[in-house]
Amino acid sequence: MNEPRIPLIAGNWKMHKTIADAEAFIGALLPRIATYDGVEVGICPPFLALQAMVDSTRGSNVQVFAQTMHYAESGAFTGEVAPGMLTEIDVHGTILGHSERRELCGETDKALAQKVPAALEHGLTPILCVGETEEERERGDTERKLRQQIQEDLSRVPEDQLGRVVIAYEPIWAIGTGLTATPEQAQEACAFIRALVGQRSEAAAQSVRILYGGSVKPDNAAELLALPDIDGALVGGASLEAESFAAIVGAAAR
Ligand code: 13P
Repeated sequence: MNEPRIPLIAGNWKMHKTIADAEAFIGALLPRIATYDGVEVGICPPFLALQAMVDSTRGSNVQVFAQTMHYAESGAFTGEVAPGMLTEIDVHGTILGHSERRELCGETDKALAQKVPAALEHGLTPILCVGETEEERERGDTERKLRQQIQEDLSRVPEDQLGRVVIAYEPIWAIGTGLTATPEQAQEACAFIRALVGQRSEAAAQSVRILYGGSVKPDNAAELLALPDIDGALVGGASLEAESFAAIVGAAAR
């Protein structure tokens, strides 16, 4: 019998919230989720608010993630942040390969193939984002896209580490659009991703957590979170208000 997977609800703040805004948010969030059990909670603030959020969440059930990371230990990479800089301040993990970074900042599968193992080597939990565009879905290319991203981005992760990766399925057409994948679409894609991991390691496929992301809101979270291959959510817009984010956490709690 496999261990049940503990759901993870992570809030991707993107380029929102100053340190003062972040402090106000966390002050409102912690009492709202203090009694929830059986769920892991993560927030992903901009780099400048990471230290403050690590300090303000210490001793709570909230983990703090970065939104991106370089793979190198250090070097001439202007504007980038290295894994050791995140672990120095006790950051728990990092989002990698978000579609906005792939599209707007040129993050490639080749770079991600180095970033995912670099995060794991430093003890950071990577949340690797994958997903198809609307055009790719209409062309029937969803599985081809997911296969390419999963295979390449995880290619250098050793089999015994694969189960520590968190994968977020975020169909690009559902991000920030108010359009959510139907439960059938979300389940089908997440099951496909799990099967891809299973081609490398069946044990990893059972332990890897697969999140859904794309217009997750308090009113659709429970339905998505009940699906067998969905182990949590990566939430954008609805993670910016403590009340709506706490409601989504509540939908995942025991
Ligand atoms: P929304 O929840 O705003 O659609 O954003 C999803 C997302 O990109 C999370 O990483």
